[in-house]
Amino acid sequence: MPVARSGPPQQADPTRAGRDFELTRRIDAVRRRKERMSEAVRPILQVTLPERETAPEQDAGFLWDFWYPAIRSTEVAGNRLATAMLLEVPLVLGRTAEGKAFAMRDSCPHRGIPLSYGRFDGKTVECSYHGWRFEACSGQCVEIPSLTSQDKLKVERIFAVHYPCEERDGYFWVYMNAVGSRLPETIPTTPKLSTFSDKYKITHLDCELPSHVDQGIIGLMDPAHGPFVHQSWYWRSRHSIHGKEKKFEPIPNGFRMSPHTPSSNSAPYRMLQKYTGEPVTTTIDFVLPNIRTEEIRSGKLWFSSRATVTPVRRDLCRIDFVAAWNLFLPVSIFRIFAKKFLRQDQGTMILQAEGLKHNPRLMLIDDADRPAKWYFGLKANLQESRRTGAPMVHPMNGPVTLHWRS
Ligand code: FES
Ligand SMILES: [Fe+2]
Repeated sequence: MPVARSGPPQQADPTRAGRDFELTRRIDAVRRRKERMSEAVRPILQVTLPERETAPEQDAGFLWDFWYPAIRSTEVAGNRLATAMLLEVPLVLGRTAEGKAFAMRDSCPHRGIPLSYGRFDGKTVECSYHGWRFEACSGQCVEIPSLTSQDKLKVERIFAVHYPCEERDGYFWVYMNAVGSRLPETIPTTPKLSTFSDKYKITHLDCELPSHVDQGIIGLMDPAHGPFVHQSWYWRSRHSIHGKEKKFEPIPNGFRMSPHTPSSNSAPYRMLQKYTGEPVTTTIDFVLPNIRTEEIRSGKLWFSSRATVTPVRRDLCRIDFVAAWNLFLPVSIFRIFAKKFLRQDQGTMILQAEGLKHNPRLMLIDDADRPAKWYFGLKANLQESRRTGAPMVHPMNGPVTLHWRS
């Protein structure tokens, strides 16, 4: 008997074949309903599986358990909540009525809606979905409005994921401890920009680079691109390229370009020396995870800067640049030049990203790329020491002199 039917609902058929057909039809309907339901439920299950939280982070090449600058302090005023992404973790940040900075994962532990859509009263963040409230600095749940007096749920045992957060040098710094890891008993202090007098000018700049943080960092410490990327009449031209000799020494978690008299082919340094009549010395440090500092001193005058390259996502990083000085140099003038400098780097990285899309094989050459090799060595050795618990081996054996032309 043919069973393929469609059209209006069928009357139950009393014959055996009819009963079989009816049974098959009902089973099919139940199966289809189950499928529809599991389709609806699957996304919820997927986001709550623990692997979903950790898997993307495992192979992204980020360094966890460090402070990273998330936003500028100026982005938060009153009870306004700000958002940021660090190491592919969405964050909601704010400042309590008492002035304490806080950072939580921008995701309600109940159903995952971003907490930044909720309300902040200066002490607690209220989720916009079911009104759960979380103490901003600890992430501890303090209220679930749907509970009745019969409910036994221990509200205080529920926490929104939160991170240590501090304000310094005009940034909200967030200590990004790896998912599922415990915070160390003592967290290192947040990085601080060195300053050498009571009065000084300070300014902040930032720019996004469409690349992995490693490319951003080795671009930052790369001496050989200067004459090609940063050509300008007041700084240098490609014809000013000449041989250089620089001494480097290992420092904890990084390396230092030993204090030296900076390149004589750079006009600003020449001017500074003329003005003070005293030698100009520059010290440049790089330390993990992402910090390059530079101090220029000549007599009582000084200039100090810090650039950090922070991973936002695996395909996006951001340079945060802060500089302070007591030279006669108006902030507005400095910003014009610094912006141009950053834009030149940014433009180059945008072009580079085009090439990197196709996963080319790359090279690091001696001596110009030796700092980049140290960076990768430091990173790998740190991860190895964290994995084994053994002390970290520094990739440099001692002071080294490098030679290149730039
Ligand atoms: S999703 Fe936040 S309270 Fe339900
Ligand atoms: Fe550059």
